[in-house]
Amino acid sequence: MAKTIYFIGNWKMNGNYDSIKEIETVNNFLKKKSISKLKKIIFCPPSNLLMSFSKKINTKLLDYGAQDISKINLNNGPYTGQLSAKMIKESGANYVIVGHSEKRLLDEDCKTIKKKISIAIENKLKVIFCIGENLFQKKKNLSFKILKKQILNSIDKKINFDNLIIAYEPIWSIGTGIVPSNNYLDQIYTKLKKFLREKYKVNSPILIYGGSVTPDNVVTLGENSLISGFLIGGASLKSKSFIEIIKNYFR
Ligand code: PGA
Repeated sequence: MAKTIYFIGNWKMNGNYDSIKEIETVNNFLKKKSISKLKKIIFCPPSNLLMSFSKKINTKLLDYGAQDISKINLNNGPYTGQLSAKMIKESGANYVIVGHSEKRLLDEDCKTIKKKISIAIENKLKVIFCIGENLFQKKKNLSFKILKKQILNSIDKKINFDNLIIAYEPIWSIGTGIVPSNNYLDQIYTKLKKFLREKYKVNSPILIYGGSVTPDNVVTLGENSLISGFLIGGASLKSKSFIEIIKNYFR
């Protein structure tokens, strides 16, 4: 059966109110009937823009996600700087990124990630869960061991995988312009699938790739049938490159 391909824009700490133009352009492109139906487009702007964007672009063609969620399982309270699951839902978002390597560097460990994932899913948010090894670990041939550990320490056995998108993002590829070879990716995704089937009894996990995805390299990346989409940073900031990624994937 043909599967849905995810194109998720991770804006990180970028964008302002004017950036809505970029989303409008993507939205207009999606209205065209000529592009495959089997796609899911999600934008994760900074949280200050979520509400206004999702209110202004009231469409079924695009979805939104937050870039973080509080580990405190409450709707409101005296917790400076925190964004609750309820607040995210109210902003119109249906997704949240958890475990991004840039967040792990700051303040997210596996215990926190596990908590956030469970709070998100409990509140009907789908989770984009990021995993990835750094260059040192890759050079030591530890990549898969690291990924396995990140999954085991963050994903509860009882989780419903319909609510989870696993984004493999090698840290050495994020923002560097370096993309792993298809051979390397094939080995990683094959092992991931096998591991998830054995440990979590899930046959069709949603596995995507992130790290320096561009309109050019998406063609080669798209040859890997185990990859169901992309988490796109830099190239998602401008509608032109984001649209080209989608077009080139399906061409
Ligand atoms: P990049 O970022 O596409 O700019 O490499 C991807 C990500 O960090 O999610």
